[in-house]
Formats: sequence, structure tokens, C-alpha cells
Amino acid sequence: MEKIGIVGAGLMGQGIAQVFALAGHQVTVFDVNHDALASLVTRTEHNLLELALDSACAANITPAAELGEAVNDADIVFEAGPEDLSWKQTLFAQLESLAPANAILASNTSAIPITRIVERLESGHRAMGTHWWNPPFLVPLVEVIKTPDTDHAIARRMFDLLTRAGKTPAMVEKDIPGFIGNRLQHALWREAIALVANGVCDAETVDTVVKASFGRRLPVLGPLENADLVGTDLTLAIHQVLLPAIDCQPVPSPYLDALVKSGRLGMKTGHGFRRWTAEQQAELRSSIFQHLKAMDAADRCEEK
Ligand SMILES: NC(=O)c1ccc[n+]([C@@H]2O[C@H](COP(=O)([O-])OP(=O)(O)OC[C@H]3O[C@@H](n4cnc5c(N)ncnc54)[C@H](O)[C@@H]3O)[C@@H](O)[C@H]2O)c1
Repeated sequence: MEKIGIVGAGLMGQGIAQVFALAGHQVTVFDVNHDALASLVTRTEHNLLELALDSACAANITPAAELGEAVNDADIVFEAGPEDLSWKQTLFAQLESLAPANAILASNTSAIPITRIVERLESGHRAMGTHWWNPPFLVPLVEVIKTPDTDHAIARRMFDLLTRAGKTPAMVEKDIPGFIGNRLQHALWREAIALVANGVCDAETVDTVVKASFGRRLPVLGPLENADLVGTDLTLAIHQVLLPAIDCQPVPSPYLDALVKSGRLGMKTGHGFRRWTAEQQAELRSSIFQHLKAMDAADRCEEK
């Protein structure tokens, strides 16, 4: 069992703590926000109960009022603090001196290049990105992102730790914007917006088409498995016709820009691509949670 230190007890920090606590590791979490720290163990107990998992595991989590307390004997440190480059650079400099010399240092940034976050470290070989998805205890993937300085064996240690904790890690060999998951996701979103902007269909139809067609198969059929299934020759033939027609603008869509400028910010303003009542928002959030919970339960059943 490893000692896990986490910086940030917010949405992601709590979720990451929960994953390791459930796997039996000792987890210590630091946050500057007293309320986030004070509620950390109860939030974890609540989630575990909700998922019918052992809520006593929340006792493996210790809140820490000082950064040093959370990291000075950690084997692995996960940073899940504010999405701000200069804050993360300062934090990693502190981690380099406070954590043991052989501790692995990982950032959960969504979009900041890992290479920039750790560029001033003397021990960059032990630093990497670990991009968890929300909620960390229900979405299996964690992208492990190597910088040019990351030691391959140390990245592998992280990969194995995540596997043992029940996650599905993916090694990202190059530190590129969006890593793998968000590049794929946003390639789809770009075309989805273009279809609406070009009057091909409305936003609800885009979502229906995805959910009722290839979205159904995605949990068991990735895009390249699918290409092999239909044949690379057919894939080539389709791409010769389709790719020249698909949106490839290297900037955000003017349609999206106009939505933002007009205050149509999505659920938080009740109107984005679509209109959202408070009930519809609650219903969607609940469906996402119930769906992920059912898939997680099925995975756990299969493991047994
Ligand atoms: N929310 C997501 O879906 C998601 C997904 C993947 C990655 N991320 C990334 O994970 C990181 C955390 O995101 P989040 O959604 O948990 O944010 P959050 O706002 O819920 O949590 C951030 C926490 O950091 C704490 N914090 C602020 N300053 C601090 C300091 N000096 N020392 C210690 N803690 C400090 C805050 O009090 C807060 O509790 C960000 O880099 C974010 O981009 C978020």
C-alpha cells in the first residue's frame, strides 16, 4: 500500500481520495479552504453509501491543515487545485522540496501543458500528468501524461498503481493539448456545432443521433475497433468522400461565440444550444449519475 498525498479537497481531489481510500491506501489531503477539508470525510462516506460500497473506508482519509503534513511522507502526490499555471508552478516547486525525493508528483490539470507546470523542477523525471475524469470514482479512465523528462519506469509505476486501484489508465506518450480523451471529444463537438450552425438539424437532433446510434456501441466498440470491424478499405473510401465535407476550422465556431456573447451560457442561464428548466437539468444530472453507477456496479460484478 502506498501513502497518497492530495492537494485540493474540491470535486476532483475528494473523488481521487475516495478511489484510493476504497482501495485501502492511506490518503492525506490538504486544502486552504477549511470547509472543503471539514466536509471531506463525510462527502466520501455519503458517496460510498450511495454506491453501496464500504463507507468505513472513508476513515483512510486524513484532512491536513498544512501542505507539508499531506506530502512529507507521501509516495505519490496528486495535485487537484485551481486551474492556474502560475499557481501550479509554485505548488510543484513546494512539492519538490516538501515531498520525499522519490515521491511521484502528478497534476490533474484539465488543459494546461504538464511540461509548463513542471518546467522549473530539478527532478522533472518524477513528474507527470494524471488526468482524471469527473466523477473520478465513477469514470474509469485516467490519462497518464509523460513530459519529455518523465522517467518511463516511474510513469509505469503510476500506471500500475492506478490499475490496482481499479482505474483504467491510458499512457499518453506526448504532452499535447487535450491529451487523448478531450481531443476526441471536442472533434465530435466541433462537427456537432457545425451541423446546427449550418441548419442541418437542431441541437436536440444532434444529441439524439449520437445517443441512438454509435453512442450505443461506444462502451464496447472504440473508433479504431469499429474501423477494423468494417474494414480499413471501407474506412478509406468513406474518408475520401466525407473528410472534405467535415468542419475543420482551427478556431471556435462563430455560432458558439455568438451564443456566449448573447448570454446563452447553457444550464447555468437556462438556455444554451437548448433551453433547460430546473427540472430538466436535475433529470439529466440524475440520469448521468444513475447510468455511471450502473456501469460501475456491472464492472465490479464482472471483476468478482
Ligand atoms: N471538474 C472537472 O470535471 C475536472 C476534470 C478533470 C480535471 N480537472 C482539474 O482538476 C483540478 C481541480 O478541479 P476541481 O473541479 O476539483 O476544482 P474545485 O474548485 O472543486 O477544487 C479545487 C480545490 O482547490 C482548493 N485550493 C485553492 N487554493 C489552494 C491552495 N493554495 N492549496 C490547496 N488547495 C487549494 C480549493 O479550496 C478547492 O477546494 C483543476 O486543475 C481542474 O482543471 C477538473
